[in-house]
Amino acid sequence: MAGLKILSVTSELFPLIKTGGLADVAGALPLALADLGHEVVTLIPGYPAVMEAIKGRRRVHDFDDLFGGPARLWRARAGALELFVIEAAHLYQRKGNPYLGPNGLDWPDNAQRFAALGFVAAEIGRGLDAKFQPDIVHAHDWQAGLAPVYLHYGPEPRPKTLITIHNLAFQGRFEASLLAKLRLPVEAFTLQGVEYFGGIGFLKGALALSDAIATVSPTYALEILGPEAGMGLDGLLRQRAGSLHGILNGLDREAWNPEADVHLFTRYKRAITARARAQNKLALQQRLGLKLDPQALLLGVVSRLSEQKGLDLLLDVLGEFAGSPLQLALLGSGDPVIQQGFARLAAAAPQRFACSFAYDEPLAHMIQGGSDAFLVPSRFEPCGLTQLAALRYGAIPVVAHVGGLADTVIDANAAALQAGVATGICFYPVTREALAAALRRTLTLFGEPKTWRKMQANGMSADFSWDQPARHYAALYHQLISA
Ligand code: ADP
Ligand code: GLC
Repeated sequence: MAGLKILSVTSELFPLIKTGGLADVAGALPLALADLGHEVVTLIPGYPAVMEAIKGRRRVHDFDDLFGGPARLWRARAGALELFVIEAAHLYQRKGNPYLGPNGLDWPDNAQRFAALGFVAAEIGRGLDAKFQPDIVHAHDWQAGLAPVYLHYGPEPRPKTLITIHNLAFQGRFEASLLAKLRLPVEAFTLQGVEYFGGIGFLKGALALSDAIATVSPTYALEILGPEAGMGLDGLLRQRAGSLHGILNGLDREAWNPEADVHLFTRYKRAITARARAQNKLALQQRLGLKLDPQALLLGVVSRLSEQKGLDLLLDVLGEFAGSPLQLALLGSGDPVIQQGFARLAAAAPQRFACSFAYDEPLAHMIQGGSDAFLVPSRFEPCGLTQLAALRYGAIPVVAHVGGLADTVIDANAAALQAGVATGICFYPVTREALAAALRRTLTLFGEPKTWRKMQANGMSADFSWDQPARHYAALYHQLISA
């Protein structure tokens, strides 16, 4: 099949700027598509970290007024990533988090900041850069949601549009009074357009008007058709079910590779895993001030601390395991209440529970390489990437049986153990009782080294690379173009 030109539109991009898995996906998918012969250029806001990282700039266009100030569009590169970057000081020249101000609240002008992203994407879609006319505009999450909307209400011809939902909990809802300021036509403010519960919905508009919708796992694609996971958008998603595709994310196998991971005390291949992992476990226990106990079941967590991730349940159940050889290495940040809970836990038993509340890439790798089991107790999880890294690193994933977690981990039930295919421990419903039972089951299996090693080997040989997902996306792009 012929190579396509794709404009990927995103508000975060690994390794330049990241708050979660969206950055990982937006950073890895273009490279996997390029390996298949497609040309992908990613449009990203010019946050300070982005402006510092880009090389080989070419000026594409100057905007006199991009939602409140002048702006310049650059074509540039960062490592292997091909980029368009919007330099707009009035929108993006701010330190820290791309979405939140120093007070922890959303930037008050997020509507304008991300409308600008969608607006420029639509302009590129309509040929702003004569050297890159995309066949497809692929938007990620609400922040890019207005790209397909502006294209829909603009002149024909236009490229085909796709929106990928990474997380339906974030929808980009703003006041109706912003309609004209966001340069949306009056006719966009309808049930068929951006109107959403009386306001403007960026993601809602994208779901209504994109040529197709993708989300990041087959199970999440089904879950969001119901009221609980659908979060207000399930009705619209049911209407569009024929255009909704569940495409499982991959894992960036270069960023997450135990054979070459510079953050590990000892790097390892499958054949020498047990010794190397024991050394990494000891190094992790040492680094975190945990008791240097090779027999303890060291449970790793790397996560945003939010309602979604279910870690409040872990706080609830740990009391039951006072007499068990269970240790915790938690790295996460977010909700201050959950954070305080873990801080108290660690203060009370620092040799058993270590909790770091930072964003720490090296420590995330050490936890994957040194913990025995890796916990993801999410209430919902569109895909989840940390369990994929855990599988690759030989940390046994203990996960809620939801979304992409259900699609990637094979529970060690009797059938799977007999067939020799188990890779982890799954639990459902997502309650404290089910989590406690899963942890008890994990302790039991940990006491059966032969079974445990088999599960590790199964997980480490599973292929969750980007190759297959990239082929799925490419097939979907071709389908849209020929429709
Ligand atoms: P989500 O996008 O919902 O946060 P994912 O599992 O898809 O969840 O992706 C989370 C990504 O962010 C992973 O790459 C994970 O390693 C990383 N991550 C999360 N919290 C931290 C942290 N405190 N420090 C370093 N990396 C983190
Ligand atoms: C979101 C989801 C997560 C997914 C990631 C990348 O942040 O919460 O499950 O893995 O996006 O698609």
